[in-house]
Amino acid sequence: MKATFYGHATVALALEGASVLFDPFITPNEQAKAIDIDTLKPDYILLTHAHDDHVADVVAIQKSSDCTVVAVVETAAWANKQGIKGDKIIAFNFGGTINTKFGTAKMVYALHTNSTPDLQYGGVPVGYLIKSGDKKIYFAGDTALTLEMKLLADEKLDWAFLPIGDHFTMGVDDAIKAAGFINCKNIVGIHYNTFPPIVIDEEEAKQKFADAGINLHLLPIGASLTL
Ligand code: NI
Ligand code: MN
Repeated sequence: MKATFYGHATVALALEGASVLFDPFITPNEQAKAIDIDTLKPDYILLTHAHDDHVADVVAIQKSSDCTVVAVVETAAWANKQGIKGDKIIAFNFGGTINTKFGTAKMVYALHTNSTPDLQYGGVPVGYLIKSGDKKIYFAGDTALTLEMKLLADEKLDWAFLPIGDHFTMGVDDAIKAAGFINCKNIVGIHYNTFPPIVIDEEEAKQKFADAGINLHLLPIGASLTL
């Protein structure tokens, strides 16, 4: 199994049995110009919320791949309104677990806001706990540090994707606390360096995580790591 970073909070996971793409925001991202979205053929797109920097390419990629879009009920309804057919949408809510071709996905808490690109109500923002093969992976989405993360402490997570860019989400220092809350030593940073307010010092971030005994992986756009 592997993870590929496409910039911002866009991550593809090649899991056991199927592939997943989180929060596709590629064509508006100047730093991701080298990525051709027509080459992305996920089996599922998982959305954490409907802010534009998470859904910009969902319709185009769904159309070219015929994948299933997974989201919280109200964000799923927005996706349906954009022309994605109902039989290609899985809408669910906090606490729920869905069975998929890759294993399971549980919808978990995220502390953020959520509106659709036309500024309508998008439901709540969410994170996902993925179980595939022998791996457990947490994709936090956009979130502040929150005590609810401690509910994942006994999951024995192998990997967690955490926002580290500050300003719109937690920053590096809170992400280190979050890694402690979820009891996970292998963190992949997301939601940083895309726009001026979320630019970070990568070396300083890695050093701070290392000082806390946690591995922070920061992937160049288009790069992969083995899960
Ligand atoms: Ni957001
Ligand atoms: Mn965001």
